[in-house]
Amino acid sequence: MSRAVRFSEFGPPEVLKTESVERPAVAPGAFLIRNESIGVNFIDIYFRTGLYPAELPNGLGVEGAGVIEEVGENTTHPQGLKPGDRVAYISPGPRLPGSASYAEYSSVPAASVVRLPEGVSAQQGAAVLLQGLTAKSMIEVTTDVKKGARGPRRGVALRGDWVLIHAAAGGTGQLLVQIAHQLGARVIATVSTEEKAAIARSLGAEEVILYGRPGIDVAVEVQRITGGKGAYAAFDGVGQTTFEASLASLGYLGWLVSFGNASGKVPPVDLLRLSDKGIRLLRPSLFSTLKSRDGLFLELAEKLLADVASGAVKQGVHKEYPLEEAGQAHIDLESRGTTGKLLLKP
Ligand SMILES: NC(=O)c1ccc[n+]([C@@H]2O[C@H](COP(=O)([O-])OP(=O)(O)OC[C@H]3O[C@@H](n4cnc5c(N)ncnc54)[C@H](OP(=O)(O)O)[C@@H]3O)[C@@H](O)[C@H]2O)c1
Repeated sequence: MSRAVRFSEFGPPEVLKTESVERPAVAPGAFLIRNESIGVNFIDIYFRTGLYPAELPNGLGVEGAGVIEEVGENTTHPQGLKPGDRVAYISPGPRLPGSASYAEYSSVPAASVVRLPEGVSAQQGAAVLLQGLTAKSMIEVTTDVKKGARGPRRGVALRGDWVLIHAAAGGTGQLLVQIAHQLGARVIATVSTEEKAAIARSLGAEEVILYGRPGIDVAVEVQRITGGKGAYAAFDGVGQTTFEASLASLGYLGWLVSFGNASGKVPPVDLLRLSDKGIRLLRPSLFSTLKSRDGLFLELAEKLLADVASGAVKQGVHKEYPLEEAGQAHIDLESRGTTGKLLLKP
C-alpha cells in the first residue's frame, strides 16, 4: 500500500484526502516513479474545483521528481533511463489513472520524463519543470518573442523590446522574468506587494507596477514606460482581472499570451477588438504545445535543467508541505500570499 491524495467531489481544499491506496501498476510505455518531491500548480486547483473537467473519484498533481522504481512494457527513452535513475516529470494527472503526482508513487508516460542532471535536487526539479517549460515554450515556441519585434535580422533575441509579465513573483512569473530578461527583453512586472516587487526586481524586472493599488492603471503605466509604443508581449496568467489591461498595454502586432485563470476565467472576447492594433491573441497550454512536436519536451527540459544546474535559472521555493497538507498548500496558493513554488513532500 502507499499514500496518495484523492478527491471524490469538486470543491474547497477540504475535499482533498490523503488515503492509503494500492501502489499504481506501471503502465506500458511508462515508468513507475517513487516521488521525492511534488510540484503544486494552479491547474491542480482548477481540477479540484471542477473548472477543468475530471472524472471522480480521482488523484491530483501533474508534476514531480524522484527515482525510477520500475519500467513498463515497451518503454524506451532517448536518455536510456533505468531503475534507480533520478528524474523529473510532468504527467497528465487526473486525466490518466495512476499518473497523478500527489502520491508516493506515480506511473508516468516515458515521453514526459527527464533525467535530473548531477547537482540538481529532486526539489529543484519538481519546483522548476512545469512552470519553466511553460515560460520557455511561450517565449521560444508559441510566440516569436525570442526573435524579437524586429525579427531575426537583428541577430540577437529581443534586445530592447518591452514585455509585460503579470504576477511576476509567482511560480511561473519568476521564471518568465528571468528567461525574458536573459534574452535581452526589458521587463515590466506586475505584483501585489512591495515584497513581491523586490523579488521581481532581483530577477531582472526593470519596472514594477503594484497593480490593484488605488489610482494605478496598468495600461496607462505601461504606455508611459514604453513612451507610448506599448509592450511587444503581455504574459497574463492572472486572467479575468488583468485581461483588459493586458490588451490596452500592447503595441502594434503585440502578443497577448493569456495562459491562465488565477483570478477567474477570461470572458468571451470580441475578435474585432483585436484589429485596431493587430493583436495576436494566444491561449496556450503547456500540454498542447508539447503535443505539437515529438521530442519537444526533452529538448526544452534538458536545456532548462542545464540552466538550473549552472545557476542561470533559479526557482524560489515558498514552502515544502507534507503530502497530508496538500489542502493547506492550495489555500496558500489561492490566497496570493505565496512567492515562487509550493512543493509537497510524500
Ligand atoms: N497554460 C499553461 O500551460 C500554464 C502552465 C502553468 C501555469 N499556468 C498558469 O499560470 C498562472 C500562474 O500559475 P502559478 O502556479 O505559477 O501560480 P502563482 O503565479 O505562483 O500564483 C498565482 C499568483 O497570481 C496572482 N493573482 C492575481 N489575482 C489573483 C487571484 N484572484 N487569486 C489568486 N492569485 C491571483 C498572485 O500574485 P500577486 O499577489 O502578485 O497578484 C498569485 O500569487 C495560473 O493562471 C496558471 O493556471 C498556465
